Amino acid sequence: MKKGKKLYEGKAKILYAAPEKGTAIQHFKDHATAFNNLKQSTIEGKGILNNRISEHILSSLNQIGIETHLIKRINMREQLIKLVEIIPIEFVIRNIATGSLTKRLKIEDGTVLDKPLIEFFYKNDELNDPMIAREHIYAFEWATVEELEFIVNQCLRINDFMQGMFKGVGIKLVDFKLEFGRLIQNEKKRIILADEISPDTCRLWDVTSEEKLDKDRFRKDLGNLIEAYQEVARRLNILHEETNISSVKFGKLRSIRNKK
Ligand code: TMP
Repeated sequence: MKKGKKLYEGKAKILYAAPEKGTAIQHFKDHATAFNNLKQSTIEGKGILNNRISEHILSSLNQIGIETHLIKRINMREQLIKLVEIIPIEFVIRNIATGSLTKRLKIEDGTVLDKPLIEFFYKNDELNDPMIAREHIYAFEWATVEELEFIVNQCLRINDFMQGMFKGVGIKLVDFKLEFGRLIQNEKKRIILADEISPDTCRLWDVTSEEKLDKDRFRKDLGNLIEAYQEVARRLNILHEETNISSVKFGKLRSIRNKK
């Protein structure tokens, strides 16, 4: 598929125009950042794994009736998507307290929450993605009451589905981040899931060892990030020839596998 002009470049992905109107090509880079760009690196093969894992999760969501922007994966690093107007909010869903929640409120790390906690962050790098309340979303018209109600409900459905999917392969879904966008079709506006769902945007812990199988390996300098992402793909049964990163030595994976 022929790529058109670059529409947008983010920290981990690039959006290009696609031949058909209303669609775009989402390209996954190997770039990793944390703490709003303070920490940066290139991790060879990360984009390929995220493309494959995100494709798997979003197409599974499509199958259970949760509409997403994914049309299809087109190659190792790219997928064809529906172009949406992104709502400038990061929706974080937490099942276990860790990360910024424990720091902000001094909650003990690893506290299991009675029910999922949804937090809202305003997507703005200049301001460091500040946490916001529902009232800010209404006051500044980032979303209407009806839109937010729909999104929160989708967040809970997605959490239910993903918790079950990961539990089945020995992984705890600790928390994750979602983004939604507006799609205008036949003069009707719909809200659909956008962006990506991958170990870059989730916290995933091995059920027994609690080993981290996500981007915290980069944030906390734990090493073996590719091996951890490959382990997630392997357990989801999607680590086929094409997602094998030839430069990675499988020996390193043993530490993660043996602790299962
Ligand atoms: P936090 O504990 O740092 O707020 O992160 C909560 C979840 O959101 C975690 O799974 C990582 C994900 N996340 C992103 O995907 N992008 C971000 O920019 C941040 C800060 C978190």
